[in-house]
Amino acid sequence: MEGVTSADLEKRPADVSSMFDRVSGHYDLTNDVLSVGVTPYWRLKTRQEIDPHPGQKVLDVACGTGTVSRILADHGSTVTGLDFSQGMINQAIERHGDQPNITFQQGDATDLPFEDDTFDVTTVSFGIRNVQEPKKALAEMLRVTKPGGKILVCEFSHPTNGLVRWGYDTYMNVAMPAIVKLVSSDPEAYEYLFQSIQAWPEQREFAAWLREVGYENVAHRNLTYGIVALHRGTKPASNTPSQEIH
Ligand SMILES: C[S@@+](CC[C@H](N)C(=O)[O-])C[C@H]1O[C@@H](n2cnc3c(N)ncnc32)[C@H](O)[C@@H]1O
Repeated sequence: MEGVTSADLEKRPADVSSMFDRVSGHYDLTNDVLSVGVTPYWRLKTRQEIDPHPGQKVLDVACGTGTVSRILADHGSTVTGLDFSQGMINQAIERHGDQPNITFQQGDATDLPFEDDTFDVTTVSFGIRNVQEPKKALAEMLRVTKPGGKILVCEFSHPTNGLVRWGYDTYMNVAMPAIVKLVSSDPEAYEYLFQSIQAWPEQREFAAWLREVGYENVAHRNLTYGIVALHRGTKPASNTPSQEIH
């Protein structure tokens, strides 16, 4: 893989984008195999937190092949899916482009092509970790969210239980590379992804990032012992100082 190597976590946008272009065709299948079937549960919890319904405008940042966008649109929301990999956007359009209440477009999470205060909800699933400047993307998501609207981030995190953490690390370091060699056409891309998961901040640190960029009511819940965390926050409804729930 040119440009991105397993040791390279600089996440240069052009390299990350072309990496996802290359894996886009087999992305969903590889995901399902690697997560040993748990991904639908994480998607379900994401959907429940967002509470999609008619009249709700949602931005799905780093939408990939559009799986989350589609789930939310099926429950009535009007969804815009955005990703900077044209390969991923092509897959999303091919799979879900016939849905009347979804639009997919190519774009950068750190420079969102939308007006201020546009969406009721902005969400990102397994995408913020791959963005070179994640806080800039979170600030952009805040900007395009309506006052009082919310953000929902679904991302790999860190198991809170020591035994689970040991089992998970073993799976990630030993079993997964072997599986990837069998099912993926681009094992190095997945090696990069595993390393990016291990280098990602823990739950409390990521929650602090959300507060830092200006969200209030920041909270998270762990899924599957903290292998994944769902983070949420709201955009202050007015210019009054934020009040956090601890
Ligand atoms: C692991 S995939 C997740 C896709 C999808 N959200 C899902 O849950 O299946 C990460 C996605 O983030 C996208 N991405 C990474 N950096 C981005 C950026 N700066 N702007 C937009 N998309 C980005 C990649 O192109 C890729 O499609």
